[in-house]
Amino acid sequence: MATAQGTKLLAAGVECIAAAVELVKTYQQGETRIRALDGVTVGFARARFTAIAGPSGSGKSTLMHCLAGLDAATSGQVILDDRELTGLSDRELTRVRRDKVGFVFQSFNLLPQLTALENIVLPVTMTGRHLDQDLLDHLVGVLGIGDRLSHRPAELSGGQQQRVALARALLARPVVLFADEPTGNLDSRSGTEVLDFLRRSVRDLGQTVVMVTHDPRAAACADRVLVLADGRVVDDVDTASGADVTRALQVVGRAG
Ligand SMILES: Nc1ncnc2c1ncn2[C@@H]1O[C@H](COP(=O)(O)OP(=O)(O)OP(=O)(O)O)[C@@H](O)[C@H]1O
Ligand SMILES: [Mg+2]
Repeated sequence: MATAQGTKLLAAGVECIAAAVELVKTYQQGETRIRALDGVTVGFARARFTAIAGPSGSGKSTLMHCLAGLDAATSGQVILDDRELTGLSDRELTRVRRDKVGFVFQSFNLLPQLTALENIVLPVTMTGRHLDQDLLDHLVGVLGIGDRLSHRPAELSGGQQQRVALARALLARPVVLFADEPTGNLDSRSGTEVLDFLRRSVRDLGQTVVMVTHDPRAAACADRVLVLADGRVVDDVDTASGADVTRALQVVGRAG
């Protein structure tokens, strides 16, 4: 079934590394049922940078969490790297997250008692995987954190902490890097550095990136902007295509 749906998405002419098919997510809050995702079907092509934008509460984080196997959908399918996630056990989902997914959050989520370097290598060493020293050197160099590796997170600026979080996420060579408002806690210059790095990782490493953002400027850095409202996709814009981008970004701007 997953394969059939995957083939359907492939038939659209794009090979999808991640996809949601008719995804519904509801939350029960007291008497009311909140439909956070209301039938989302969308595919994400390999080595592309997609921004998910839209008003607060439109379902951006919920969609990202379902795609990344952090949260289970109520119905519909999630396909990640040719694997159907719906119906996997918690243990299998944990393995998928560990092997295939990278995360970067607004709040960095570094372990405070570890140094920057220890934070970066932990997910790889903890799971007994090979540490790719060349990739580590590349990431540290591009991110400009070579002189900060022995510092603990509290001794780093927000921008530096986010760059450490990016190095940690990419060192594990994830199939998809998911970032939820990665520039939300940063000043404009640090935010630009993070966005530049995400772009470079798509271009130089062939990384697939899916980023949630409120910021029209951040969305404009992506190859594609997916706009959500009330749990549905209301716009899907290729930023190389020109005119439509302004309209989509106006929507994002109003949302922010
Ligand atoms: N654990 C939860 N329990 C109940 N309702 C939830 C839960 N998580 C999210 N929701 C609701 O689902 C809807 C979508 O939430 P989501 O966090 O995906 O929005 P968002 O687009 O990421 O918003 P923001 O831009 O504010 O981060 C909202 O109405 C939210 O209140
Ligand atoms: Mg959110």
